[in-house]
Amino acid sequence: VRDATGALRAALVTDARVARLHSRAALTALRRAGLDVHMIVVPAGERSKSLVRLNQTWSFLARSGIGRADAVIALGGGVVGDLAGFAAATWWRGVPWINVPTTVIAQADSAIGGKTAIDLDWGKNLVGAYHQPAAVLVDPDLLGTLSEREYRAGMAEVIKTGFVADRELFGRLECETEALSRRHRPTLGRILSQTLAAKGRIVAGDEREREGGRRTALNFGHTLGHALEAALGYRTLKHGQAIAIGMRFAAWLSVGEAGLAPGSAQRLETLLDRWRMPRRVPAGVDTTRLRRYLSQDKKGRHGVRWVLTPRVGHASVPRLISDRRIRAALKRFGARHG
Ligand SMILES: NC(=O)c1ccc[n+]([C@@H]2O[C@H](COP(=O)([O-])OP(=O)(O)OC[C@H]3O[C@@H](n4cnc5c(N)ncnc54)[C@H](O)[C@@H]3O)[C@@H](O)[C@H]2O)c1
Ligand SMILES: [Zn+2]
Repeated sequence: VRDATGALRAALVTDARVARLHSRAALTALRRAGLDVHMIVVPAGERSKSLVRLNQTWSFLARSGIGRADAVIALGGGVVGDLAGFAAATWWRGVPWINVPTTVIAQADSAIGGKTAIDLDWGKNLVGAYHQPAAVLVDPDLLGTLSEREYRAGMAEVIKTGFVADRELFGRLECETEALSRRHRPTLGRILSQTLAAKGRIVAGDEREREGGRRTALNFGHTLGHALEAALGYRTLKHGQAIAIGMRFAAWLSVGEAGLAPGSAQRLETLLDRWRMPRRVPAGVDTTRLRRYLSQDKKGRHGVRWVLTPRVGHASVPRLISDRRIRAALKRFGARHG
């Protein structure tokens, strides 16, 4: 922390579950390094990406006397990273922060790219900022305490990155499913760093996600995935599970619209099956409801654009696909006609 920021004082932000499992070790290490550390614990879960918790975090930064020479440290999953990162981005118009991600999603995805945000009643990630952390400390050992459900769901983002950005990574994921599923430390470490490197290459060319820019590739599977999460009120499916369905859907569209070989789509299906990811739109979600959320998901004037892939390891710029085709495809994936 001191090497990266020069700080002598730090505010550690974490959630209740991570605090129980890992805060003692973190506090000890930080204090041993000579830092004056203050800790705030927010409830675990997406609901902490809120104005209420942000306000509470700002008050805590004020009480702890955190200024520009100090640092904010996020210890937790994507929720804590997004909340603490946004608090750091806005406090004194930006103080340094350090991210210590503790979930697969956070280690493989949110740890890189510098996006921070909170949710509002009107939608997810509506208020945020780009604020690069001064350092990211990725320790795969921290994943050892993650629940099986969280661990598996997080792998969807890893698979996505391979499928749209790194063919070699995707191949490794196919060969090493077994070692990964028992969280074999060296395998996990290699896969995570390859995933981060692939994401880093994409983000480097397009930090602010321009329309049609390279970063949009990372939204593969997310167009339908986000709509499913919203339609289900963010309860039934984990983010990774929702995008697994979204990726199957986008791969199926890619076969018809982008020339993806059916065998390549099948490789994705098989890998997602091996991780026991859901296959179909859950019961009770109808096409009308889904299409309403689809058209809300960022895409502007010209209707919904879909990230497709012409071959493994590549993505094409988001493409408009006719509503009629989407409706038919949704039915094929189990959405009720409505
Ligand atoms: N900024 C970005 O670029 C970016 C990218 C992807 C996702 N995100 C955001 O990240 C969030 C999802 O992240 P998440 O899945 O990490 O959610 P999360 O932070 O809520 O973590 C999931 C659960 O795992 C628990 N947990 C965390 N680490 C643990 C550990 N080591 N052992 C045991 N339990 C642990 C948490 O307490 C929580 O209950 C979403 O809000 C999403 O918008 C941001
Ligand atoms: Zn995602």
